[in-house]
Amino acid sequence: MSEARKLFIKTYGCQMNVYDSERMAEALGAKGYVLTEVAEEADMVLLNTCHIREKAAEKVYSDLGRLRPLKTAKPDLKIGVAGCVAQAEGEEILKRMPLVDLVVGPQSYHRLPDMLERTEGGARVVDTDFPEEDKFDHLPERKATRGPAAFLTVQEGCDKFCAFCVVPYTRGAEVSRPFARLMAEARGLVEKGVREITLLGQNVNAWSNDGRGLGGLIRELARIDGLERLRYTTSHPNDMADDLIEAHGAEPKLMPYLHLPVQSGSDRILKAMNRKHTAEHYLRLVERIRAARPDILLTSDFIVGFPGETEADFEATLDLIRAVGFGSAFSFKYSARPGTPAAEKPELPAEVCDARLQRLQALVTEQQRAAQVAMVGREVGVLYEKAGRLPGQMVGKSDHLHAVHVEDPAGRVGDLVRVRITASAPNSLAGERLGA
Ligand code: SAH
Ligand code: SF4
Ligand code: F3S
Repeated sequence: MSEARKLFIKTYGCQMNVYDSERMAEALGAKGYVLTEVAEEADMVLLNTCHIREKAAEKVYSDLGRLRPLKTAKPDLKIGVAGCVAQAEGEEILKRMPLVDLVVGPQSYHRLPDMLERTEGGARVVDTDFPEEDKFDHLPERKATRGPAAFLTVQEGCDKFCAFCVVPYTRGAEVSRPFARLMAEARGLVEKGVREITLLGQNVNAWSNDGRGLGGLIRELARIDGLERLRYTTSHPNDMADDLIEAHGAEPKLMPYLHLPVQSGSDRILKAMNRKHTAEHYLRLVERIRAARPDILLTSDFIVGFPGETEADFEATLDLIRAVGFGSAFSFKYSARPGTPAAEKPELPAEVCDARLQRLQALVTEQQRAAQVAMVGREVGVLYEKAGRLPGQMVGKSDHLHAVHVEDPAGRVGDLVRVRITASAPNSLAGERLGA
């Protein structure tokens, strides 16, 4: 090949898509593609999409529309749609968007290089199978990573079927990757300079293999020399097993941060959502987690305006937020998704949803500020991920996953340093390096 072909990937949605985009880039890398940040110079554009809310899915179509002039100027340009919109809409995408050459679902992307070859002759191809073979067995080994903090998908899919959610349909049933493979992939990442790994899964704490649960996996990973920090996301409250909670107390490499979505504080709404837990169950769980690791920072996800949500139901959600005290939270207006049970039910007026979202976000913002201010004066670990905007400044994540800016002219990406927090800004902290 004379000159490397260029690949532009745009990633939407969750961290699992970020991981998948890296693996797809590696798979195409083996076929001679190198990544570019500039869509205009690409030979292939891949959109790795998200179907979780209507807005996310519609964004994909408007972004595809914007690629039209590129395709006109360069008819050889290949355009692919991957991820959860690809899975949910498959063939439909080809019909609606004539410029798309291939559509590949999240379980089939190891076949991407072959699919691409088939498009060379002008064919348009779709693969949204949930194949028997494990895609991870058919992907090339992990390459150099983005930096000292990496993602590792350990579990995929979801069997929970929350009434509002498309993930069980787009990602399929819960599957855990084998223990030995994960250990090998983690060791490989550490050899390439990774010092922090975030274990990923749509229901990461449902991971189990050979009698081990996620707590057991974390304990084994923690024994890898050079791997200094572990995190995991996203968890379901019903899968917080005792040994995982214990690991938060016993394993210093497991960081004091946990994202634990609850969605609502109203038992009536939780039941309608098919969450299979109550608000009380969640509050008791939080107590047990905090007993194991008192300084843990908790974050969550909330949906406002779920069909049938009354003012009293919404107040119950605010009460739960007040009772827990979150470090931050993602909150969303309910979005009806085709094919889900909740989509059959009448929706609340948009103004009601808007007003509730604003009230909830105001409360969460207040709690986020309080949690950050409480860090001032404390000593934390910070793993430098990049240079800051000011000369001599480094930026990294604290143990509690706060972004921290540190004046440190000698600092380098990958350094894990002790820092005293000196100030809190709206979305980050500032600190001074200790020791060195
Ligand atoms: N598996 C994870 C996350 C799934 S998606 C979990 O169970 O927590 C991330 C978040 O998107 C969810 O936690 C939920 O708050 C939100 N979400 C999912 N479906 C939605 C919908 N139909 N409308 C609005 N928000 C939604
Ligand atoms: Fe969706 Fe519920 Fe599964 Fe989370 S647990 S991915 S919200 S169905
Ligand atoms: Fe979106 Fe699929 Fe992730 S729907 S949130 S990209 S699992």
